[in-house]
Order: sequence, then structure tokens, then C-alpha cells
Amino acid sequence: MHSLFEEQLIHEQMAVHRFIDARIDMDAETQSIRPGSGMFSVDTEPYVAELERLKQRVDVPVLASLNGTSSSGWTSYAKRLESAGADALELNLYEVAASPEETGAAVEQRQLDVVRSVVDAVKVPVSVKLTPFYASVPAFVRSLEQAGARGVVVFNRFYQPDIALDTLDVDRRLLPSTSAELPLRLHALALLSPTTKLALACTGGVHSGLDAAKAILSGAHVVQLASVLLERGPQHVAVLRDELMHWLDTKGYKSSAEARGVLDLHSAPDPHAWERLNYTRMLAGWRARDGWRKEP
Ligand SMILES: Cc1cc2nc3c(=O)[nH]c(=O)nc-3n(C[C@H](O)[C@H](O)[C@H](O)COP(=O)(O)O)c2cc1C
Repeated sequence: MHSLFEEQLIHEQMAVHRFIDARIDMDAETQSIRPGSGMFSVDTEPYVAELERLKQRVDVPVLASLNGTSSSGWTSYAKRLESAGADALELNLYEVAASPEETGAAVEQRQLDVVRSVVDAVKVPVSVKLTPFYASVPAFVRSLEQAGARGVVVFNRFYQPDIALDTLDVDRRLLPSTSAELPLRLHALALLSPTTKLALACTGGVHSGLDAAKAILSGAHVVQLASVLLERGPQHVAVLRDELMHWLDTKGYKSSAEARGVLDLHSAPDPHAWERLNYTRMLAGWRARDGWRKEP
């Protein structure tokens, strides 16, 4: 499912506080008979209702998603979603570090605290959706594993506003992804696949069955689809599935599990050196072959 956002909940809670507390404060008598606003739980209910409807109508597992940055409150939201039937939870750690006062280590610790508090509160598996912006994605994923997460989703697509130079406006349009966003994910999956036991999901730039095949070869257990389905409709899943099956068949794989991780970095004894080597090779190759100079 789409995410339940912390800010959305806080906004709604504050509206209820303002509404009820304003009346309680009006006279002393009402204070004794009216409940405090803390007793009302309005916030998660529309989301919960949608989750319950989905559970009734579909046979596939339903994953609920929470998006926030603080531990407070998350455990109760997580429990509510679990009791409404969510088969698993995805925590989306979408956060842009914007303060020079807080170090990267402190940001990571705060995020790990959120994950641990949710994992401790529910029995269903919890996966974590990450951004690419950690000094070491494999090390952070190891900490997530220690915190009890069962899977990671790489990577969130960031809000990347453009600038309209004629009006000096910020252009906030959300553009669909393209397959060009996939290699960043493939690279991370190939690094993570041999170093973690967590289930790996790929999100961002999967637009065809062949893109899915690349993600699986790099180590993904599953791929997630957003842009391609918004553009082509949910029935397009069948097209991607057929493309993937056909490719697996052509290459002689009996299942996606057989192809999983075939191109990850498990056979690289020193992935760091391998990465550096590939980078220098790529630059050298450009000099020798590619050349981008355009005809005038
Ligand atoms: C219109 C739209 C709404 C989205 N809403 C959410 C959301 O609520 N929670 C979330 O974790 N990701 C959300 N995403 C991100 C997608 O889940 C996905 O990670 C991202 O679009 C990259 O995948 P894609 O290349 O298949 O689009 C949204 C994306 C789009 C385009």
C-alpha cells in the first residue's frame, strides 16, 4: 500500500486537539465531563479502512507502509495496522538530512531506533525502504538486520525539484521514472546480496521484464513497480511477468530463484578493490572508445 505519513497523523492529531481542547478550556465544568483529546484516535482510521477493504478483496499478501522519522507513536500505528490484517510492514525512512548540527551517525541511530521499536511491537515481518545516501549502505543494512528487520527495499526515489528560470519558481512536478534509474539499484543489490541474509526488494526504474531479470541477477528477491503501472495500468504486470518468464526460459533457468544473485559480488574477494578497478576501467574505456564529441 501507499504510505501513512507521520506528518499527516500529526497534522490530524493537532486539528483534533485544537477542536476539543478549545472547548474544554472554555469553562471549568466541561473540563470535568469531557474526555481529553488524547482519548480519540481518528488518524489511522481511513488508512486502516482501506487496508481492511483490500484484505477482503484480494488473495495476495498486503503490505502496509509507514513513513516517518521519530520513534514516538510509530509502535501504536504499527500495531493498529497489524491488527487490521497487514501481512507485513514497510517502513519508509524517507529523510533528507538538512541540519549541520546532526551528524550522519546520529541520523542513522535515530532511524535504527524507529526500526527497533516497530520490530519489537509487531509479529509480522518488517522491511525498511532506504535512500541511497548512506556512507555505507552495507553497514547500515547490517545494523538493520541486528535491529530485527527482515528485508530492505532499495531505493527510494527522492523529491528532486527543478527550477523554472523564467518565473524563478520551483517546479515540483513528479515525473515517472525510467529504466535509467535502475543501475544504481543493481549496483547496491550486487553489493548487498552476498553480505546480508535480509530479503532484498528493488524499487526504482523497473519498467520491463528484462529490468526485473537484471534486478534478480543482481540479487533481488522481488521487484516493486510504481511508475510503469501508473503509466500503463495494473494489467501490465502480466506483460512484465511474461517477459521475465520468457527470458528465464531462454537462458535455461527453471525459476527466478535459480537466477537470483548470479551476477552479485559473491565471487569478488575484495568488493572495494573491484569497484575501484571497474571505475578506472570505465574511464579508460571512454578515452579509448566512446568519445562524446558531437559534430559542430
Ligand atoms: C504517485 C506516486 C506515489 C508514491 N507514493 C509512495 C508512498 O506513499 N510510499 C512510498 O514508500 N513510496 C511511494 N512512491 C514511490 C514508489 O513506491 C517507488 O519507490 C518509486 O516510484 C520508484 O519506483 P518506480 O520507478 O517503479 O516508480 C510513490 C511514487 C509515485 C510515482
